[in-house]
Amino acid sequence: MAGPAYDDRDGKIWYDAKMVEWRDANVHFLTHTLHYGSGVFEGVRMYSGEIFKLREHSERLIKSAEIMGFEIPYSVEEIDQACLDACAVNNITDGYLRPLAWRGSEMMGVAAQNNTIHLAIAAWEWPSYFSPEARAKGISLQTSTWRRPPPNTAPVHAKACGLYMISTLSKHDAEAAGFTDSLLLDWRGQVTEATGANIFMEMGDGKLHTPIPDCFLDGITRRTVIDLAKTRGIEVVERVIMPEELANATQVFLTGTAAEVTPVGKIDDHISKRLKRLLKRFQQM
Ligand SMILES: Cc1ncc(COP(=O)(O)O)c(C=O)c1O
Repeated sequence: MAGPAYDDRDGKIWYDAKMVEWRDANVHFLTHTLHYGSGVFEGVRMYSGEIFKLREHSERLIKSAEIMGFEIPYSVEEIDQACLDACAVNNITDGYLRPLAWRGSEMMGVAAQNNTIHLAIAAWEWPSYFSPEARAKGISLQTSTWRRPPPNTAPVHAKACGLYMISTLSKHDAEAAGFTDSLLLDWRGQVTEATGANIFMEMGDGKLHTPIPDCFLDGITRRTVIDLAKTRGIEVVERVIMPEELANATQVFLTGTAAEVTPVGKIDDHISKRLKRLLKRFQQM
């Protein structure tokens, strides 16, 4: 395990509009979200003292809560400010933020209408989610046996805690098999995304291809990459992508706040053409 446990660190956490000691930012065992996965969260990054797409993240947090049937008792502006304050109090200028809103412990049972809604925000220094070595050579993805569910069976457009059980199970399987992460298909067998990042591919036609986010998170980084590509005259095709097509991709990469932009070198037994080219070049040296 790298570094101290996340509940045993110095610093302060913004917790229900107060700054509390890091180690005191706790919840009770009978908290609704702990039992029923009913929370929503964000992953946000600060670079050189500026939070990337802060407004979009705060808006998505509020939207995720709405999808989950509750209202966060802070405005977008207040959440923006709380994120900035959480960085400032911990002297973070390059780091990661984790806002999470959850249902409290007034009601126990599936129904949760009268539970108080809490919000806490932690900020800490966190380099890229994937190691520099893995990123340099391209991470490996294993296709998961778990599938992303259809939109009428889960709140698929919310960044909701409960949805991540599939990601955790998939990622554990992938790591046990020696892969870096998982590629998830949906219930139709179409390519969706990795466990915590969206996916793009080049197919040799000069365009960027990415799946339509109709049953998974339309990431803020994904949308940024699409906008950047368009401003550079690169056509982006959002379409149904079947897993067989990945074998013909010339380049694949993941996008996400934690993952940033991470090249993929291998998917199951397919090694990307980019990596093959690199390997050939090395062999010729
Ligand atoms: C499941 C999942 N998909 C995609 C993303 C990428 O979203 P974003 O670029 O907004 O961080 C994330 C990360 O937040 C995620 O957890």
